[in-house]
Amino acid sequence: MATERTFSILKPDATKRNLTGAVNAVIEEAGLRIVGQRRIQMSRAQAEKFYEVHKERPFFGELVEFMTSGPVVVQVLEGENAVAKYREVMGATNPAQAAEGTIRKRFAQSVGENTVHGSDSAENAAIEIAQFFGEGDIAG
Ligand code: CMP
Repeated sequence: MATERTFSILKPDATKRNLTGAVNAVIEEAGLRIVGQRRIQMSRAQAEKFYEVHKERPFFGELVEFMTSGPVVVQVLEGENAVAKYREVMGATNPAQAAEGTIRKRFAQSVGENTVHGSDSAENAAIEIAQFFGEGDIAG
């Protein structure tokens, strides 16, 4: 299987609770390499653009509000089958349904404040990475 990249966000609930190192340890233990990483304060425009596919959903306003409520860590993860692997490591969107040992089971507080984002396909990963990283910011 080919090496692949996925896009990850450690959300404001993770930065607020000083969990970025603990979450990164789970990522690295799963065999995913953090090849790009930056801590940023997401602007409202960036969050609205990033979550554009959800703009008709009832939780869109709340989602943008939360994602801009504090710093986030944007990441590029690399590894075999990275998109599917990271989704497995994150666990279900709703932490109540997440499997034991997953990031969301261990750390997430609710479906909204769910600690991490990961791309749902290789195509979306490329689009999401390009929103926050230039090639020069990524070193495998
Ligand atoms: P994420 O993978 O970042 O992509 C969309 C996000 O919307 C999702 O994680 C959740 O954090 C959020 N989300 C999904 N469903 C709900 C909901 N019912 N209420 C609030 N936020 C939600």
